[in-house]
Formats: sequence, structure tokens, C-alpha cells
Amino acid sequence: MRHRTVERRTASARPVTNLASGWYVALPSAELRRGPRRTTLFGDACVAWRGEDGRAHVQGAICPHAGAALYGGKVVDGALECPFHRWRFDESGACVFVPGRRPPARAAVTSLPTRECSGYVWVWYGNGPPRYEPPDLPDLRARRFPSTRSFRLADPTRATTRRILENTYDPDHLVALHGLTVAGDARITFPAARESADADPEERCDATLTWPSYRGVLGTVSNVFGLNADEFTLRLRGWASCQEIEYFADGRRLYRMVLAVTPIGEHRSIQHISAAVDADGTGILGRLRALVHRAEVQVAARQDLPIFDTLLPGDRHGIYVPGDEAVRRFRRFYQQWVELAQRG
Ligand code: FES
Ligand SMILES: [Fe+2]
Repeated sequence: MRHRTVERRTASARPVTNLASGWYVALPSAELRRGPRRTTLFGDACVAWRGEDGRAHVQGAICPHAGAALYGGKVVDGALECPFHRWRFDESGACVFVPGRRPPARAAVTSLPTRECSGYVWVWYGNGPPRYEPPDLPDLRARRFPSTRSFRLADPTRATTRRILENTYDPDHLVALHGLTVAGDARITFPAARESADADPEERCDATLTWPSYRGVLGTVSNVFGLNADEFTLRLRGWASCQEIEYFADGRRLYRMVLAVTPIGEHRSIQHISAAVDADGTGILGRLRALVHRAEVQVAARQDLPIFDTLLPGDRHGIYVPGDEAVRRFRRFYQQWVELAQRG
């Protein structure tokens, strides 16, 4: 028993700092079945479980009685039962049952605002209740996307949430690191600024990046499959904690992705990518093109991660150049949501 306790304590993470208020992935829906699951969020050990109605809940994992881990328990009568002395906690976190006596009034665990959509269980991070519902992101696992054309990645990284998300706003690295074969620099456009004296930050920081002449990330292979285009466009709907990204060649969508994050702790995150490649006809060539695009997304993720793991701690950045315009814009936006998380 002692060994396990030590293991649990050392496995917890340092609390996150500089994290934007927003919706974060606690875990993929498919990983939460009937029994409770352990997850570490924002530096704290948490437990995810489903009530009898199937709804997902995410709560602090440490039992307030004597500190046992609740993810070792089970769900009984719609409440989470601690394995040690069988106290039970309902979906609000309140202790609703203690064998043989009345539950102490103060006995409760923290319950995080939890929603389930787009194939993930999401929790809200911030001071106070959620400021908006989870983004209406597509569930890219849905049946209309055949399995060869939709896929998911979940990769641990030492990068912060901001580093993971700002990567999409960085057109220069798409060329320099991922080898995107384009002619000239990206043209970056943003939606018109909201006309309001409202002090609250915008909910989204959207951007469109357009390059002339695209030849595909896989270079020669992409070329063989006729994936060239006169114009390549990345359209981004970006919240402070997740994104929907669509890629177009000459106005035809190639694929789309959901990018989301699990902030485990300071400099420990999981990057979640859910992607679906659009079918380009039903024939063999269409299927092969889909596989090439799928390989492009997977290769790009593998190229980013080793860089992420070496980035300077503290979200610092050195010299800005014109290609960093969108990154700077996102950073200002992100920081507004960090301040909201801190002040409530
Ligand atoms: S430690 Fe949980 S009920 Fe005693
Ligand atoms: Fe990248």
C-alpha cells in the first residue's frame, strides 16, 4: 500500500501556470467506459467516471476522508465509491453516503465543469463557471468518415498549451520544418475586429493563411498523385484552448483537423489531433490521395513533437519577424484568457 501511495504522489505533475481559461480534453470518450479512469489535469490527480445515465464527470481524485485515490473505486447507485471506507460522492462532488453514519457536512471533492462532445470529454479551466459552451467541433470519428480517412493522434509533449496552439499560426515553420512546397510567403488575413467597448476578450482568434502554388508536404509523392494547386489555404477557427483547421487546394478541401490539449501539468501536455481526409472521388486514385494526405498530417505531427520538447521553458520568444504576425496576435489573445483564468 505504501509503495502505491508514493507512486501516486510522484506521478502527479507541477501545477500549470500561464494557462488560458477554456475547454480542455480530459480524455477521449472511447477511453471512459463503465469504470472510473485516472487522469491528471492542471497538475492535479483527477478521476473521470460515468453516472448511470452515461454522463461523464471529472473530479478531484483524492478522497477527503483519508486520502485514498477515488479512481481505484467504482460507481454505485450513480455515485463514485471510494475503495477504502466506501464513502460515496455524487456528480456535484458532495459526499452522499458513509457506511453506518451521516456523511460529514464538509466532505466533498472538487467537481470540474464537464461536457462530452466531438469524441472527447472536456473540462473547463478557469475561475468561475464556463464563459461559453465547448466549441462546436466536428466529431471526426463519425461513420460518414470511413476509418481509412479519419484518424486520431494523442502525443505527450513537454510543450505548453500555448506553444502547441500557436504552431498553427506560424506559416514560416510549415515551409521550413514541414517542407510545405509553396511559392512565396503566406498572406495572412484576420476577421474584422469586433466593434465593441466590451472589456471581455473575443471568444476566438481566427485566421486564414494563403500561399501561392502548393505541391504537398510529401513533395515528389504528392506531385505524383496530382496534388499540386495554384493556391493553398489554411483556414483556422481558434479558441484559446483548441482549434478547428481546414486545408484547401484551389478552394477544394483536402482535410480538416481538430487540435486540442490535455494540460497535465507545467510543461507536460498531450497534443490531441483528430483528422479526417476528404474523399476525392470514390475510385482508387481518390483513396490513394486520401492516404497521402493522411501521411502528410502524421508526418507533420512527428516533425513538430521533437521541436516542442526542446522549446525554452516559460513560453518565451526571441526575435519577431513579419512571418510571426499571426503568432503575436494569437499570443495577445491567449494572454487575455490567461488573465481571465487568474482573475475570474
Ligand atoms: S479514504 Fe476514502 S472513504 Fe476513507
Ligand atoms: Fe507544425
